Amino acid sequence: MQKLLAWIDDRFPLTKVWEEHLAKYYAPKNFNFWYYFGSLALLMLVMQIVTGIFLTMHYKPDTGLAFASVEYIMRDVDWGWLLRYMHSVGASFFFIVVYLHMFRALLYGSHRNPRELIWLVGMVIFVALMAEAFMGYLLPWGNMSYWGAQVILSLFDAIPLVGHLLSEWMRGDFVVSDATLNRFFAFHVIAVPLILAALVFVHIVALHKVGSNNPDGVEIKKKKGADGIPLDGIPFHPYYTVKDIVGVTVFLMLFSAVIFFAPELGGWFLEPDNFMPANILQTPPEIVPLWYFTPFYSILRANTYAFFGIEAKLWGVIFMGLAIVFFFFLPWLDRSSVKSIRYRGWMYKAALAIFVVAFLTLGYLGTQPAAGPNLIIAQVCTVLYFAFFVLMPLYTKIDKTKPVPERVTTK
Ligand code: HEM
Repeated sequence: MQKLLAWIDDRFPLTKVWEEHLAKYYAPKNFNFWYYFGSLALLMLVMQIVTGIFLTMHYKPDTGLAFASVEYIMRDVDWGWLLRYMHSVGASFFFIVVYLHMFRALLYGSHRNPRELIWLVGMVIFVALMAEAFMGYLLPWGNMSYWGAQVILSLFDAIPLVGHLLSEWMRGDFVVSDATLNRFFAFHVIAVPLILAALVFVHIVALHKVGSNNPDGVEIKKKKGADGIPLDGIPFHPYYTVKDIVGVTVFLMLFSAVIFFAPELGGWFLEPDNFMPANILQTPPEIVPLWYFTPFYSILRANTYAFFGIEAKLWGVIFMGLAIVFFFFLPWLDRSSVKSIRYRGWMYKAALAIFVVAFLTLGYLGTQPAAGPNLIIAQVCTVLYFAFFVLMPLYTKIDKTKPVPERVTTK
């Protein structure tokens, strides 16, 4: 084995990569629960790609065959039901994991200097993931697949002058059709997964350049021993590989429980309307995307006013876009002198709590008809959502902070 390794090392930096990124990659010793979600996101990416490959072996990207091919996978293909549920439940779990992963950054200031690029790449991953999920949802060619795509693609119509041309160009037709299904299939199975894999690689390379943050927001590289190793660092392997296995095990138990006992999760993971084939003559009573899009969908529908000569629909699209764009700027909107929520004052804690409540409320309201009290609550939550970002430079600056310890704490 030694000889084989030496032979490989002469031709490829295997030991070097292993050491730099695992055995001699020193991570802070105080990682907690919130640090499971990076490795779990990686697991979900692999899981979606592997189950997707097997689904593609039996799926037919053709409007005449797609729906039936998915039913065929569910009923006749050996273990097809499991593959399909792993993939559909997997999409929702992927978003749960990624949302929690992003939330960790807000807790501990992981997006702040020097990790802005990790955050920016993460945000591009998030946008790519949304595109991936949106296009994947059209593939079963259920009634909600069809109408969901129809609604979202026609949003581009609201853009002045070029809107109609743009949405027609994206659909490849005047309505969502076979051309749309085919291109979404191409993007969903190869283009976007490739982009995602490349982005995740860059995300991790950027992380390993600066090193991980931690729940105290203390830079461990600032306190090194005589050997040049951070005093509060421990080798990623075996310490965190083993810790991550614990996270993966618990996660897979939850994942399996949903797959085996509630794969549709009461319509939250697979919508009832999608058990009917796409029908151009029958609009579902309420067109709603899956839960991971609903906070943004709520923001889209919340504005009912036309102002500055711009129609309400276009404002909705602009607000929805801004709701995501603001996230990109977080590292620069946050002016606090400390990173971790542990050492921040009450203002940031309150702002974050309000933001989370507004986000979840918007998420729920996005699944409900946008009228009456629902609409008003959605409008209030939209204002709170944006206030979190717009007022951030102010409240993070004046918020009273606590002294940050020199070294990480291990409570
Ligand atoms: C496919 C999706 C993603 C994968 C596979 C992934 C993977 C990872 C991994 C393995 C880590 C190191 C372990 C950890 O800190 O938990 C990490 C760190 C990080 N990720 Fe992601 N990530 C993804 C998406 C995102 C997104 C959407 C964002 C935010 C917009 C993001 C922001 C960050 C940040 C700021 C860190 C540094 C955390 C710290 O050092 O405290 N990631 N990511």
